[in-house]
Amino acid sequence: MNTSIPLLDLDHLAPGQARGVEVCLAGERVPLVVVRHARGVSAFRNRCPHAGTPLDWVPDVFFDPEGRFLQCATHAARFDPVTGACVAGPCAGQGLEPFPVHVDADGWVRLVRER
Ligand code: FES
Repeated sequence: MNTSIPLLDLDHLAPGQARGVEVCLAGERVPLVVVRHARGVSAFRNRCPHAGTPLDWVPDVFFDPEGRFLQCATHAARFDPVTGACVAGPCAGQGLEPFPVHVDADGWVRLVRER
C-alpha cells in the first residue's frame, strides 16, 4: 500500500524551476529538491554524491546559468534534471538519489511512500 506526503503546490513551481523542501521520513529530516521540467516533475535528495554537500548555496538556486542542468554549488557538477544522472564534473557516472513523486488532482506534488 502506498501513501503520499504533500511537498508543494505546482502553482509555486514554474516550468524550468526547482525548489528545496524538507520532509521528515522515519524520524530523519530529509532535504529534497523538487524539479519541474519538460517531462513533468522529479525529486531528489538535495545532496551531491561527490562530497555530500547540498546542491544550492543560495536557497532554490539549483540550475546552471543556461537553465539546462542542476548544478552543484560546491564543485559545479551538473545533473540531468529528469533523471538526476551526473553529466559533468567530479561525480560523473553517479547521480542524485531519486524520490518518487506525482502530481495529484489538486495540483500538489506529492512524495510517494510505500508502506
Ligand atoms: S560536492 Fe558537488 S561537485 Fe563536489
